[in-house]
Parts: sequence; structure tokens; C-alpha cells
Amino acid sequence: MGAGIVEVFARNGIDVLAVEISDAALERGRAVLVGSTDRAVAKGKLAPADRDALLGRVSFEVGLAALRDVDLVVEAVPERLDLKQRLFAELDRVCKPSAILATNTSSLSVTDISVATQRPDQVIGIHFFNPAPVMKLVEVVRTVVTAPEVVAGVEALCGRLGKVDVTINDRAGFIANALLFGYLNQAVTMYEARYASREDIDAAMKLGCGLPMGPLALLDLIGLDTAYEVLDTMYRRGGRDRRHAPAPLIKQMVTAGLLGRKSGRGFYTYA
Ligand code: CAA
Repeated sequence: MGAGIVEVFARNGIDVLAVEISDAALERGRAVLVGSTDRAVAKGKLAPADRDALLGRVSFEVGLAALRDVDLVVEAVPERLDLKQRLFAELDRVCKPSAILATNTSSLSVTDISVATQRPDQVIGIHFFNPAPVMKLVEVVRTVVTAPEVVAGVEALCGRLGKVDVTINDRAGFIANALLFGYLNQAVTMYEARYASREDIDAAMKLGCGLPMGPLALLDLIGLDTAYEVLDTMYRRGGRDRRHAPAPLIKQMVTAGLLGRKSGRGFYTYA
């Protein structure tokens, strides 16, 4: 998702430093960004010169040291609290005191992440949806200590990014995932019980309910690993609501490396 978020900022005239954990991860991210902008050029949606200007606004680095002068960090590492807390503690040491530290977490507590820093009032959730360049919504998540001017600044930034923002308090799944993931989980349970084929489950919701894609195709887009973490976190944070107890098949698929589009196979196979 990081590459998509980078594209959103660069497309809207903002210089971006894309930081990755390794050269290999950095090259994967760069390939996603180049592929997405090339597609836009091929479709006539972006002039080649604008694509070049967009790519020119993005620099790539491995390691956090490069972030010392940035105004805003948007973190998009995997959905594990220990990982995010370690990263935020390090960001707090590296980044200048005025920098805002944002997380793109889908379901973890922004408050839990913020207390790993010495500046919890400057920590906020900026939650994009997949694919970030396409989906219009951003959830802005404030904790009980996020400074009002930080919230207002991020809301204004969302407008500059061409997004519609909704601002919510820090609760599991925020708005969209709190409503979406019970449905996605039920679709997997239905498929797991051989109640209907994957194609029929997806066709029913796409053609019967007017959704852009069916639930199993959407899980492949989100990533089965991310979906598992989101469900598991919502189950544990949200009072162990049965709707969010991850369907066993999701864990089995993650263990087997069937992560969806990103690994080439999930409920469907991708070229
Ligand atoms: N990156 C950039 N652009 C993309 C893209 C990607 N990964 N995938 C599609 N697009 C663009 C296409 O280039 C195309 O752009 P133009 O209209 O400018 O030509 C546009 O999106 C439509 O794409 P397609 O014509 O290829 O296909 P489509 O009409 O079927 O749309 C879709 C694809 C946008 C993914 C659409 O099916 C859709 O909206 N699906 C639902 C997605 C959704 O629900 N996302 C939220 C997931 S939950 C989440 O993300 C939260 C979380 O925390 C886990």
C-alpha cells in the first residue's frame, strides 16, 4: 500500500521520500509506482511530462535516517503492534520535533502506537483504502491526546490530496473496516462450508448488490495476511464479537503463502 500512498502525494504536487526496509522492497515499491503511472499514461489519463514530474517528486531511500527533515511521516508497515511501536519509537528519535507521525493502520489502536513516542499529541491515524490512488476516502483517526491543530492540518491535507476525509475516535476498525470485515469474514465462512462457489459468492454481491467487486476478490486485493490481522485485532479489541473471529480458512491460506494479488494467488490466481 505504501507505493499507492506515495503516488497520491506525488500526484498532488507534494515531494515524497519513500523509505523501505531493504533494496529489494524498495525496488518492488518503485516498480508498483512506475507501473501505475505508466498505465495512466497508456490510458491517456496522465501526460508523459506529468508522469515524469510526478516520479521526479519521489526519492527512494533505505533506512530511517533520511527522514530527519520531513514534516509528516505516513507509516505503512505490516499490521503488528510490536513492529509499529518499535518503528514509532525510532521515528520519534530521528524526526524533527515538529514532525507529525501518522499511521496507516487498519485496525490497531493509534493510542497504543502513539505512546511509543515522546510526542503522542502529534501522532494520528491517516487511513487510506486500497487501491489508495483510486479510493476517495481517508479516515482521520484522533486519539484522546491528538492536538486539535494536528487533526485540522491533516484534514486540510486530505483535501489537498483530492480525498474526502471522515474524522473518528480511536476504535477498532474505525468506521469502514468495522462494518466491512464482518461481511468479508462471513463470505469466507460460506465458501469454506462449500455453500457456494467463489465465483457465485462474488457474482451475487457484485451483480445483486451493485458492489464494484465481490468479497473474495476484495480479500485478494486487500491481502489475506492483512485481512487476518485486521479481523484478529478487531476480534480481540472489540469484545470478541463472533463476526470477527477469523474464518479458519484465512489463516490456512496465509500460512500456505496464498496472500492474494500480492503473492499471485489467493481465492483466485493472478498472472
Ligand atoms: N493502483 C492504481 N490504480 C488502480 C489500481 C491500483 N492498484 N487498480 C485499479 N486502478 C485504477 C485503474 O487504472 C482505473 O483507472 P481509470 O478509471 O483512471 O482508468 C480505475 O482504477 C478502475 O480500474 P479498472 O477499470 O481496472 O477496474 P474496475 O473498474 O473493476 O476497478 C477497483 C477496480 C477500483 C479496484 C474497483 O473494483 C473497486 O473499487 N473495488 C473495491 C475496492 C475496495 O473496496 N477497497 C477497499 C478495501 S478495504 C481497505 O483497503 C481498508 C483496509 O484497511 C484493509
